[in-house]
Amino acid sequence: MKKPLRKAVLPVAGLGTRFLPATKAMAKEMLPVVDKPLIQYAIEEARAAGIEQFCMVTGRGKTALVEHFDIAFELEATLRQRNRLEAMEALKGTIVEPGSMVTVRQQVPMGLGHAIWCARAFIGDDPFAILLPDDLVLSRTPCLKQLADAYNETGGNVVAVVEVPREHTNRYGILKTGADDGRLVEVQGLVEKPAPADAPSNLSIIGRYVLMPEVIGHLAKMERGAGNEVQLTDGMAKLIGNQPFHGLRYEGTRFDCGDKVGFLEAQIAFALARPDLAAAVRAFLPKYS
Ligand code: UTP
Repeated sequence: MKKPLRKAVLPVAGLGTRFLPATKAMAKEMLPVVDKPLIQYAIEEARAAGIEQFCMVTGRGKTALVEHFDIAFELEATLRQRNRLEAMEALKGTIVEPGSMVTVRQQVPMGLGHAIWCARAFIGDDPFAILLPDDLVLSRTPCLKQLADAYNETGGNVVAVVEVPREHTNRYGILKTGADDGRLVEVQGLVEKPAPADAPSNLSIIGRYVLMPEVIGHLAKMERGAGNEVQLTDGMAKLIGNQPFHGLRYEGTRFDCGDKVGFLEAQIAFALARPDLAAAVRAFLPKYS
């Protein structure tokens, strides 16, 4: 019997060095794409996949992240007084069920695997999703919903994957692939950031995962991998052979918002997808090409 997927972990404790000075006092995940912070896109995507409980693994800049999902009494009272209904409407997506969101602290950013291990008490014995908020996916069906549907089909672990240029394999977690029907691919091995010559394929994992709780036992060994960090990819690799493990070629476009160019591209793509902004953005774009 498959357990239902109800929990999500959102690691937001990285240093965000590529966005300094913006990330000096604030987590990278509070950076907005158009008018919404990255973390809110991730929470909304998780909700759309049936997630009911959220755990943010935080480092510096926790206050803004936590307050973003709290009720802002003074602000709301002022908006109500001034009859600013459209502004009040904009706050709706920031309210979560009371008691549904917890934070844990990763005091030292020792890697993504370590960040996930920090959420072990929250995860318990349940399957859980991971969303890296700096990976933003523009799609018809929210990316995590596609993964949750695949999990209901296959059981076990499912990660979102996309083909990357071979010369970029050293930036990502890369799959060694087995049976492949063009949508779902059996994962036979995982390598973090392999050099192009050593990469077993050019199929890379993006920041959306559905994992079984057994991964925590492997991460607990605190083995250091690429970049001398505790890598989630290495922990996941240990599950292969013991549990089903699939990659899902999701429908949609991923934007790496942890990278300046990816972040700028996301601004344009998300603005063009908005009926209230598309025409105005389309009108100014030619000036810059
Ligand atoms: P990145 O590899 O993008 O690192 O992390 P970073 O520190 O956030 O950014 P740069 O490279 O210095 O600019 C991928 C995800 O893993 C989280 C980050 O918050 C991000 O969501 N992470 C990474 C942690 O939570 N803890 C870590 O120790 C490392």
